[in-house]
Amino acid sequence: MKVTVVGAGAVGASCAEYIGMKNFASEVVLIDIKEGFAEGKAMDLMQCASLLGFDSKITGTTGDYSKTANSDVAVITSGIPRKPGMTREELIGINAGIVKTVAENLIKHSPNVIIIVVSNPMDTMAYLVHKATKHPKNKIIGMGGALDSARFKYRLAEALDCPASDIDAMVIGGHSDTGMVPLIEKAVRNSIPVTELLAADKQAYVVEETKVGGATLTKLLGTSAWYAPGAAVCAMVQAIALDSKKMFPCSALLSGEYGLSDLAIGVPCIIGKNGIEKIVEIKLSAAEKAKLEESAKGVKEINGLLEANVA
Ligand SMILES: NC(=O)c1ccc[n+]([C@@H]2O[C@H](COP(=O)([O-])OP(=O)(O)OC[C@H]3O[C@@H](n4cnc5c(N)ncnc54)[C@H](O)[C@@H]3O)[C@@H](O)[C@H]2O)c1
Repeated sequence: MKVTVVGAGAVGASCAEYIGMKNFASEVVLIDIKEGFAEGKAMDLMQCASLLGFDSKITGTTGDYSKTANSDVAVITSGIPRKPGMTREELIGINAGIVKTVAENLIKHSPNVIIIVVSNPMDTMAYLVHKATKHPKNKIIGMGGALDSARFKYRLAEALDCPASDIDAMVIGGHSDTGMVPLIEKAVRNSIPVTELLAADKQAYVVEETKVGGATLTKLLGTSAWYAPGAAVCAMVQAIALDSKKMFPCSALLSGEYGLSDLAIGVPCIIGKNGIEKIVEIKLSAAEKAKLEESAKGVKEINGLLEANVA
C-alpha cells in the first residue's frame, strides 16, 4: 500500500504520523509546495521509526508528483485552514483552485488512486473533484463524518461520564457548523439508547456542541484542529488497506440515494479496497430526514459558488 498525503501541514503530517505508527502502509509520500517542508516533516517522522517500532517508509517532496506515482490512496489536505470566527465555507476562494489542480496531478500519476478529500469546505471540494476529474465516483471520498462522529461520541461520553468506546453514534449531512446532523435518536451506550440515559436539555447540548466542535477547537488553538482529523483519515485509509468493509459516514456523490442528487454529502458508506463500496440507506425519522434535506440545500448553495472560484 502506497499512500500520498498532499499538504504536510497540521492535518497532513498528523495523518502521515498515524499511518506510519499503525504500520499498515509500505510507503507514505508527503508532498507540499513550501520548499523543504514535506522533506523535513518526513525526516522527523522517520526518526520516530526506531522509537515507535514501525517499518513504513515516509518520504517528502516539494511539488514533484512523479514521486507519488502509483499511489493506492491519496489524501488531499492542501489549502488554508480557518482562523477563529471563520466558517469553513469562507475558504472556498483559495482552496478550490488548489484542490482541483492537486486532484488532476494525482490522477495523472496514479490513474487508479482512491482520493480522500479533507480540505474545506470539504463537501464542496469533494464535489469539485468529482466534476473536474470524472474519476470513478467510488474512488472519491470526502472525510468529515468520521471526525464529526468521533466528536459526537466524545460529547456523549462526557455527558454520560463513560469512555467513548462505550458509545456508538453517527453524524451525517454536510461537514459544516449548521449542516451536521448528529443522529441522537439512534445513538447508543452499549445498546441502550442515549435518549433513555440523558435528559432532553443534555441531548440538545451534546448535539449543539458536536456541530460547533471544529469552531470550538479553532477558537482554542487559533487554527483548526489536526489530531482527530488525522486519526479519522488514518482510520479510513486503514479500512481501504485492510479491505475491512467498515462503515463510516463519508461525503459521497449521490444519485438519488436519500432522495438527493448531484451533490456530495455525508451518508453512511462501506469502505473497502475499492473505496466507497456501498452507500447505505438507513431508515431516518421524519425529523432526521428534514434536517438532512436542509443540510443538502446548504451544501448545494456553496457548490453554486464553485464556478466563480475555480479558474
Ligand atoms: N474535513 C475535515 O474534517 C477537516 C478537518 C480539519 C481540517 N480540515 C481542512 O484541511 C485543510 C488543511 O488544514 P491544516 O490545518 O493542515 O492546514 P495547514 O496550513 O497546517 O497545512 C496546509 C498545507 O497545505 C500546503 N499547500 C498549500 N497549497 C498547496 C498545494 N497546491 N500543493 C501542496 N500543498 C499545498 C501548505 O503549504 C500547508 O503546508 C484546511 O482546508 C482545513 O480547513 C478539514
